[in-house]
Amino acid sequence: MSAAPRIVVAAAESSRERWIAALSAALPEARFEWWSPRCEPAELAVVWKPPAEFFAQQPRLRAVFNLGAGVDALLALPDLPADLPIYRLQDAGMAEPMARYALAALLRHLHHFDAFERAQAATRWAPLPPRDPAECVVGVLGLGAIGAVIARTLVSAGFRVRGYARSAHTLAGVDCHAGRAGWAPFLDGLDALVSVLPATAQSRDLLDHAALARLATGALLVNLGRGQHVVDRDLIALLDAGHLGGAVLDVFREEPLPPEHPFWHHPKVRVTPHVAGVTRMAEAAEQVAAQVRAVLAERPAPGRVDRRRGY
Ligand code: GLV
Repeated sequence: MSAAPRIVVAAAESSRERWIAALSAALPEARFEWWSPRCEPAELAVVWKPPAEFFAQQPRLRAVFNLGAGVDALLALPDLPADLPIYRLQDAGMAEPMARYALAALLRHLHHFDAFERAQAATRWAPLPPRDPAECVVGVLGLGAIGAVIARTLVSAGFRVRGYARSAHTLAGVDCHAGRAGWAPFLDGLDALVSVLPATAQSRDLLDHAALARLATGALLVNLGRGQHVVDRDLIALLDAGHLGGAVLDVFREEPLPPEHPFWHHPKVRVTPHVAGVTRMAEAAEQVAAQVRAVLAERPAPGRVDRRRGY
């Protein structure tokens, strides 16, 4: 490869100038070129949800760098070569805002803000005592770079925190569970569940009726991972039955959430438009630069995706 590697970039057209500027600042020794159907094949690519024809049009790639933590959209592209190494963002500034989002949702729940909004709409003075975080057991589902920061933030805010991951983890102050045997002990009696799992074959439909029914009566679900984890009709049934107290959802099976979807108008559901973990350009570009440098030097680079696991 030449001294100034050429790297094609494919992401939302509206962010074109800003991505090229951020990536060029982080990796000045490379030449970044915005992808078009006519551009020359390159050896490296930086992408976020590239067009369907991208990989057929770029047959010489030796690595691709994903401008997000989730690679589900990338792995779904039919022309993605099976052996092409993929690197993803691991945190890149997303974990802290996601932890603040989770904390805000939990505090809103403990302080009954939804009930007070309804009372205000009815001009009703209806005091309710706030609940104490120390009496609230929160489960964090997924303990990677983002989940670990969320779990730590919740421990610092005084919550009792459990964590769950496929493999065993140790985190100070967090009661960690893993594997099939740890699933029920993790869920049983949780007052709130925060999910940051990636979308994989294993996580699809994981939060179904059986799983969500294990949470404590009145529990809150906060989903910041991917919509595919939640069986929407099961969640609605448990909210309607009064078993679950509420859901704060940032991610959905279909995005944008279709206008006819019952989540939009459900009184116990709060919808945000996939904004909890927005990629921060400067941090993302720095992380991609470090990955590109490692790949060019033939060193192991952080964030390499294991295709079998799906993240
Ligand atoms: C956002 O959803 C991401 O995967 O980075």
